[in-house]
Amino acid sequence: MHEFDPDERSSDEIARFVKTVVTPRPIAWISTRSEDGVDNLAPFSSYNYVSLKEPTVLFNTPNGDRDELKDTARNALDTEEFVVNVVTEPEIERMDHTSASLPPEESEFDLADVERADCRTVDAPRVTDAPISMECTLHDSLEVHDKLMILGDVQHVHVDEDLLAEGDGKLDMRDLPTVGRLGGPYYTVSDPVEFERQF
Ligand SMILES: Cc1cc2nc3c(=O)[nH]c(=O)nc-3n(C[C@H](O)[C@H](O)[C@H](O)COP(=O)(O)O)c2cc1C
Repeated sequence: MHEFDPDERSSDEIARFVKTVVTPRPIAWISTRSEDGVDNLAPFSSYNYVSLKEPTVLFNTPNGDRDELKDTARNALDTEEFVVNVVTEPEIERMDHTSASLPPEESEFDLADVERADCRTVDAPRVTDAPISMECTLHDSLEVHDKLMILGDVQHVHVDEDLLAEGDGKLDMRDLPTVGRLGGPYYTVSDPVEFERQF
């Protein structure tokens, strides 16, 4: 085996390595509204849930002074709100387009022609065509080396009714072609393998 010591590698090399190892990563397509009322939208694949009983999710983004933060992070901290929209296959291209680095006064909703809808519990908009959107309020933020971890409590969830199974109303993975991020310029679309769970 080749032995890999992170201390002997450049930060770019390590970043590329870790991002290829931790795959596929789920993608939070995060919508926020700035204090000036500009609607922002961007994808974040350093994303996951933390707690479930009281659902809390997190995403990570570079740390820095307020004016150095990405718009999503600044808006989430300023307004204490953000919305996680689930990305499915038909939206890959528009989702990718919203990773463009725009000045804070311009909206990726307009750039990528993404339709927005009002939320119930937060001012930030949601992506109309997302099959699921989770409205979140800021739980906390945590500096981890050069990154800022932003945690949000899920306050309300919008789910496309077609995704809910008749009878028990549960979500069925087979109907939700979620998109994941791989290393480099690659995405993947979920292709569930049914498995007889033993434990
Ligand atoms: C699929 C995908 C996943 C991304 N994940 C992250 C991430 O986890 N953290 C991050 O800081 N940037 C991530 N980016 C880059 C941001 O989307 C990009 O910097 C964007 O311009 C930020 O927008 P904002 O300044 O409007 O917040 C990702 C980009 C793509 C295409």
